[in-house]
Amino acid sequence: MKNIHHVKNTKLVNEVFDNVYQNYDLMNDIMSMGTHRVWKKQFIDSIEVDKNQSIIDMSSGTGDITKLILKKSDHNTIYRVEPNFNMINNNIREFINYKNVKNICAFAESVPLKDNSIDLYLISFGLRNISKIDTGLKEAFRVLKKGGGFVCLEFYNVDQPILKNLYSIYSKAIPLFGKIFNQNSKPYEYLTKSISDFHSKEEISNKLSESGFKNISIKNIFGGIAAIHYAWKLND
Ligand SMILES: C[S@@+](CC[C@H](N)C(=O)[O-])C[C@H]1O[C@@H](n2cnc3c(N)ncnc32)[C@H](O)[C@@H]1O
Repeated sequence: MKNIHHVKNTKLVNEVFDNVYQNYDLMNDIMSMGTHRVWKKQFIDSIEVDKNQSIIDMSSGTGDITKLILKKSDHNTIYRVEPNFNMINNNIREFINYKNVKNICAFAESVPLKDNSIDLYLISFGLRNISKIDTGLKEAFRVLKKGGGFVCLEFYNVDQPILKNLYSIYSKAIPLFGKIFNQNSKPYEYLTKSISDFHSKEEISNKLSESGFKNISIKNIFGGIAAIHYAWKLND
């Protein structure tokens, strides 16, 4: 895995998740000390979900966000969209009894759903993995109904010196965890580098605006290490 710093291509990202899918949930818990669960709950709790709404869980991975929506309301049609077959298939059995959960193996850059068909587009820790973010955001705008919302939880670089130092130590430790638990530190190097190489929150807001979204707002979580973007496809 060469040029890990700036290479952001689909094949590389796919290889990373092919390497981690079996231990993905456990590693997430260990690496975040359980905080990813708190953040994801905060993410879902910050959204009003009406039982008739159709929802996309983009970059669904092993389906944490789908599970949280189902806890809140199990009537919604939920499209779990995820390009990595191993990730989406890993605990697919958990969703087998939910006829309203549709599993779709596809990229954010090309979503096999109709224009103006979705009420809520959710994406948790997925945006930084999308190779062509601008294309992905335009696709999100396309599939959303007028009045529909885009809500994105993601990691960002922080400016606060204390958090910055803590994070820098921590990101060196993450590949070590990977080596211990997964016998391979490379995928975890990618995961931390993908955060440090990623856009700022303001850049993401600009990209959302360029894609057609309006009323864009940001909610910081844990001193800004993570943040939620809210953006709307308004009626004309
Ligand atoms: C860090 S995981 C997040 C999984 C889950 N949403 C969560 O919060 O735990 C990122 C996911 O993004 C997926 N991904 C990678 N490239 C993508 C793309 N171009 N479009 C959509 N998802 C992508 C990966 O396969 C991976 O499952």
